[in-house]
Amino acid sequence: MTEESTFAGDEIAAAWERHRTRLFEGQRDLSEWIVRHLEPHPGQTILELCAGPGETGFLAAERIGPDGKLISSDLNEGMVAAARRGAAERGLTNVECRVINAQQIDLPEGSVDGVLSRFGLMLVPERDTAFTECRRVVRAGGRLAYGVWGPLDRNPWLTQLVGALLQHGHTPGGDPSGPGGVFSLATPEINRHVLEEAGFTDVEIEEVPGAQRYDSIDEYWDLQTEIAGPISGIARSLDAEGQAAIKATLTPMVEPYLVEGGGLELPSLALGVAARAG
Ligand SMILES: C[S@@+](CC[C@H](N)C(=O)[O-])C[C@H]1O[C@@H](n2cnc3c(N)ncnc32)[C@H](O)[C@@H]1O
Repeated sequence: MTEESTFAGDEIAAAWERHRTRLFEGQRDLSEWIVRHLEPHPGQTILELCAGPGETGFLAAERIGPDGKLISSDLNEGMVAAARRGAAERGLTNVECRVINAQQIDLPEGSVDGVLSRFGLMLVPERDTAFTECRRVVRAGGRLAYGVWGPLDRNPWLTQLVGALLQHGHTPGGDPSGPGGVFSLATPEINRHVLEEAGFTDVEIEEVPGAQRYDSIDEYWDLQTEIAGPISGIARSLDAEGQAAIKATLTPMVEPYLVEGGGLELPSLALGVAARAG
């Protein structure tokens, strides 16, 4: 599960916008952790990278007030447009939405007070460059706070689905722990290392447990195949029979996560990570 092109399609951006509230609320604890550790103050300039439809940054926008500025950014234009609509719907007047590649941030040195990101930095193939770029644009003493997925074996919400696909010979993306992989920043050690190499200090890392809830196996399949690029590509290449075969494999794999009254609740584990620009 690699590649920034993972999320490049307009259809993927449209799906993220359609499900924006659910995708945000499902991991709201992590968003709140990020914003708390970003320590935003009224009047500050904050940059959100890999923002998707932008909800986590909007929490920070409320904290910096009308004299502050949130630069909400993503590589994908469709996501940026979704964030722009989201900011307008909330009546946020202090948000500027822009296309920015986290590997090459188009902002001057020391021009922001803080950078935040939820579930994005691990997807950037040239990860070390992205962290060096974050350090360059944050003023000395400013903050970086972000969230990434924790270890693979603590995230059955994703691994069960990928496991079922693998059993049918489909390989979504490359090495999930390799560069740009969804689990490439899954340990405290790797986060600490990249942050310190990039010039950040006072690193704080905390596990943020959660659960991904779905009404049924069909709904689990439908949502994930709409929003996750590599999985979506595979699902689209299959006819109804092919999809049904994978769901039949998936069913016993998610049985331990069935909840009383129907539906599924699959555990997740994210890491909240924060540091100061040295
Ligand atoms: C899993 S989504 C997370 C969206 C949102 N932050 C959230 O937590 O709901 C990852 C986002 O990272 C963006 N992205 C991937 N590579 C990027 C890069 N190199 N620079 C900026 N954004 C990137 C994708 O377009 C996508 O919107």
